[in-house]
Amino acid sequence: MYVANLSLHDFRSYPELVLTLDPGVTAFVGNNGQGKTNIVEAVAYLGTFSSHRVASDTALVRHGTGGAVIRAKAVRDTRETLVELEIVAGRANRARLNRAPVSRTRDVLGIVRSVVFAPEDLELVKGDPQARRRFLDELLVLLAPRLAGVRSEYDKILRQRGALLKSAGVARRRGATPDLSTLDVWDGHLAAAGAQLVAARIDLVQRLRPHVARSYEEVSAGQGEARLSYRSALLAQDGDGEASLEEEGAMTDVSALAERLVTAMGELRSAEVDRGVSLVGPHRDDLVLTLGGLPAKGYASHGESWSFALALRLASYAVLSDDDDGAGPVLILDDVFAELDVRRRDRLATMVAGAEQVLLTAAVPEDVPAHLDGARFTVAGGEVTRE
Ligand SMILES: Nc1ncnc2c1ncn2[C@@H]1O[C@H](COP(=O)(O)OP(=O)(O)OP(=O)(O)O)[C@@H](O)[C@H]1O
Ligand SMILES: [Mg+2]
Repeated sequence: MYVANLSLHDFRSYPELVLTLDPGVTAFVGNNGQGKTNIVEAVAYLGTFSSHRVASDTALVRHGTGGAVIRAKAVRDTRETLVELEIVAGRANRARLNRAPVSRTRDVLGIVRSVVFAPEDLELVKGDPQARRRFLDELLVLLAPRLAGVRSEYDKILRQRGALLKSAGVARRRGATPDLSTLDVWDGHLAAAGAQLVAARIDLVQRLRPHVARSYEEVSAGQGEARLSYRSALLAQDGDGEASLEEEGAMTDVSALAERLVTAMGELRSAEVDRGVSLVGPHRDDLVLTLGGLPAKGYASHGESWSFALALRLASYAVLSDDDDGAGPVLILDDVFAELDVRRRDRLATMVAGAEQVLLTAAVPEDVPAHLDGARFTVAGGEVTRE
């Protein structure tokens, strides 16, 4: 698919911006801080309601204004879909589809599909588990928008359960016997939502795995084997923290997972009351990345870490394409070429050249690889001009 029109109203630095885009490669070139990333961030936000730069929506709304609007026309084969999203800081987003209001905002999730490559991706390899959970969950939202609802439900349950655990802990420390009957109910809620998330993540890991191995090999020219596995206290694992494939296979069964979650919470009840937090569930899990059998985090070199991060994004692209009868998502390359050595830069450019639409940003024209030639916009002082 590709985005044919993009318009922004009070989004980030833009009071008003209207762009017509073509399939193929489009580069946004301009000095630092001129608004290049703001443009591609808007496209990516439409698909997942999340940004690769900020956790909260507040910064997306132009400073001093009440709300932002992103409007995009997505073209898949010959079918056009107009997606409009209004972001009001501190309130739920509002959406329209082909000019008609939708009953649930998340009905527009996953329509504009994109995969973003950005300097922040190095965090996927070097950073905390949170970055990797987010990687999986954002991809899941594109593949199955329903899961966005499950995820926010899970977060809500986690907060409620946390509050209950804390007050039970206070009661216990006072020498009283805490009333734990309500907690049992919340255990059930947490298990029901949590199991759906874990099952979906494990299924996704299985889909990503062959693509990650192949992409890593291509990006790194065959150095080492890149693997990923899902780490969860719910899965029996070997010493390296890897679950056997059979164990993993069994764990895409949602009701079996929910049972395991309930059992685990039962066993951890006392520790949970002591600490006032939920100690088991998808919010504690991780995606373990290994290179040639060693954990990438802590062992991989800077260049290897980059190759792994690129492989994760390329694999996301492949999984989304498989899922949509070969119609690939929009590929967004935000300032990545400047980060890469010449070899990785060329490999990446070759690998993405076949995508239906590539939107890339670069501070200087020299950062755009020669064989990614296409349309070019200059971004300066809030003006976006087609060359
Ligand atoms: N909510 C907002 N309201 C007003 N201005 C904003 C808002 N958010 C970001 N900006 C401005 O947008 C500019 C940054 O834009 P952007 O990140 O797109 O730059 P860029 O061209 O990608 O730069 P670089 O090359 O450094 O990555 C900054 O000047 C910032 O102050
Ligand atoms: Mg930028």
